Amino acid sequence: MIPVPSEAQIISLGEGGTPLIKSVRLKDLVHVKEVYIKFEGANPTGSFKDRGMTVAVSMAKYLGARVVVCASTGNTAASMSAYAARAGMKSIVILPKGKVAKGKLVQAVLHGAILAFIDGSFDDALRAVTQVAERYPVYVLNSLNPWRIEGQKTLAFEVADEVGVPDWIVVPVGNGGNISAIWKGFKELKEAGLTSKLPKLAGVQASGAAPLARAFRKGLNVPEFVNNPETIATAIRIGRPVNWPRALKAIRESGGVLMDVTDEEILKAQEALARFEGLGVEPASATSLAGLIKLKEEELVDRDESVVLVATGHALKDPDVIKYHSADIHYLSSEGVLALVREVVGT
Ligand code: F0G
Repeated sequence: MIPVPSEAQIISLGEGGTPLIKSVRLKDLVHVKEVYIKFEGANPTGSFKDRGMTVAVSMAKYLGARVVVCASTGNTAASMSAYAARAGMKSIVILPKGKVAKGKLVQAVLHGAILAFIDGSFDDALRAVTQVAERYPVYVLNSLNPWRIEGQKTLAFEVADEVGVPDWIVVPVGNGGNISAIWKGFKELKEAGLTSKLPKLAGVQASGAAPLARAFRKGLNVPEFVNNPETIATAIRIGRPVNWPRALKAIRESGGVLMDVTDEEILKAQEALARFEGLGVEPASATSLAGLIKLKEEELVDRDESVVLVATGHALKDPDVIKYHSADIHYLSSEGVLALVREVVGT
């Protein structure tokens, strides 16, 4: 269902096929029939971006590209650099200075990308990419690239294959590429006669970077963009989501909702996934659980409905969040260790 020409050489790192993990403890906290977490952190570079990158980099290679470029909040950069390395292409990543999580920077550096930091946000970085692409023979790998969307739609195929079409699928939203791709996937399955229903989409943004959630709430057809987006979830720190028309259309078509959650709610959800389910996700990914909690509070999701949360990226991507979480850390002598353990085991 991905129309790549058969002559194309496929550049792959074994992406996709990520675990769909059935919630054991959170389910009772949020009170819905079933919650599954699609753990995209299990992809080769630790985020869902690899699904699209295998397709788009294979196409770049097929089209004879030598240099690939992207603007990124970090994960696209990490993924592109890895796949471009495998394909023998040069990569240039344009990043917002001081706003990219450390794990993602390590990856881009390790894979040999050229890193260009600019003063400004992701939106400014994307503007720079557009200017570059107008002048030089580079292949752009941002999510406006249709091949990225083709690859990312496979998440829908995997979910439907494993547990059928859920009532709701909750997706973190930055540029709006992934939620559009997932919708495309579910629609194609239905059109092919492989499934009979469609899920409702819930898109979740961070409150400091929520132009689409605001547009949805106000019933606007065109969003009011945010000039200085700010959130702890740096992956989705985006004020002018380029895929907004597709994302808004998908959510409205599905009968779903777009909402926003605060940084505090995001951190709480990140901790809940880690401590109730054993799943380490980065802050942007935790918006899906924070969103579900809100959906339940607002009684938009019923008790007898099933929900899939898309956990877009791995916790290791962003080690700096350690400062926001309660940590039970001690610095002790060996006698001190014995005393501590005695206290914990309660003898
Ligand atoms: N979650 C994570 C972990 C992300 O890295 C991103 C986007 C999203 C969610 C939102 O997906 O943009 O398709 O709506 N990261 C991009 C990047 C912008 O450059 O890595 P979207």
